[in-house]
Amino acid sequence: MGVALVTGASTGIGKATAIRLAREPGTELVLVARREELLRELAESLPCRATWCAVDLTAAEAPDQVRAHLEAEHGGRLDLLVNNAGASWRGEFAEAGYANVKRHMELNFDAVVRLTEALLPLLRGSAPSAIVNVASTAGRVARARTGAYSASKFALVGWTDSLYAEELPHGVHVGMVLPGFIATEGFPATELKAKAVTRWLVSKPEVVAEAIHEAGPGGKPERYVPRFYALAAVARILAPRLVRRVLTSGSASDLTTKTAAEADKPS
Ligand SMILES: NC(=O)c1ccc[n+]([C@@H]2O[C@H](COP(=O)([O-])OP(=O)(O)OC[C@H]3O[C@@H](n4cnc5c(N)ncnc54)[C@H](OP(=O)(O)O)[C@@H]3O)[C@@H](O)[C@H]2O)c1
Repeated sequence: MGVALVTGASTGIGKATAIRLAREPGTELVLVARREELLRELAESLPCRATWCAVDLTAAEAPDQVRAHLEAEHGGRLDLLVNNAGASWRGEFAEAGYANVKRHMELNFDAVVRLTEALLPLLRGSAPSAIVNVASTAGRVARARTGAYSASKFALVGWTDSLYAEELPHGVHVGMVLPGFIATEGFPATELKAKAVTRWLVSKPEVVAEAIHEAGPGGKPERYVPRFYALAAVARILAPRLVRRVLTSGSASDLTTKTAAEADKPS
């Protein structure tokens, strides 16, 4: 498998992905997120060589820092880049405004593009290699109070499709994973887990980790997780009036679950 770098590896989907990839023979992992203590604990618990690079991916110098780490610690090799770090701050546009759109774009889109730009030469140099971008079903269907998050994930989905076509001749496979509701530190899905009628909608980070493996080394271009979330994307295209009716009904408010980041106000 070679050198795999996972962003947002301190918790949730990223942590589960690191644990999943560590099972592959010959893997060396690079764990990226802000909380160094969590990265160190995870690195020390894994059965393969793992280094960590504690950075805020929205910082101007972050891409160069990560690239320098790869060059110093892993000989400039990169076989798999998993762009997973992300967050959602819920809020209606009339209240949260452009500031909320801006911070979503900075983390969920700009940071991914900037890191990929810095690491693409290493990925091409290590080809055949792969990138997996962790988007969201919210990158296909938007709910109330998630407009800024959806905008950042729609952007990521479009950019990823284009990058897939561009990098194919260079031996860099670009895969995309679109999770639905997954219970994690950032997205606890408490409202959905509390009710028997909605509990089945919520899945686990380990299931997404398996899909990330399929979309990276496995060579799949796209995976919804769980798979039935693809129906939401299909319905949005084929039955938009129905989807709008469902998403504006009173019961749809539970589908905009609270997130851990939500308490922060845009600065
Ligand atoms: N869970 C879901 O329901 C769901 C559904 C669809 C898509 N997703 C996507 O899946 C990805 C992972 O989310 P998750 O559910 O695993 O959430 P999570 O548990 O909150 O994990 C987010 C990760 O991103 C890191 N991160 C956040 N801001 C960062 C920054 N500025 N710089 C560097 N790292 C940063 C966090 O680490 P630090 O705080 O240590 O920096 C953490 O490791 C996100 O892109 C999310 O949009 C999740």
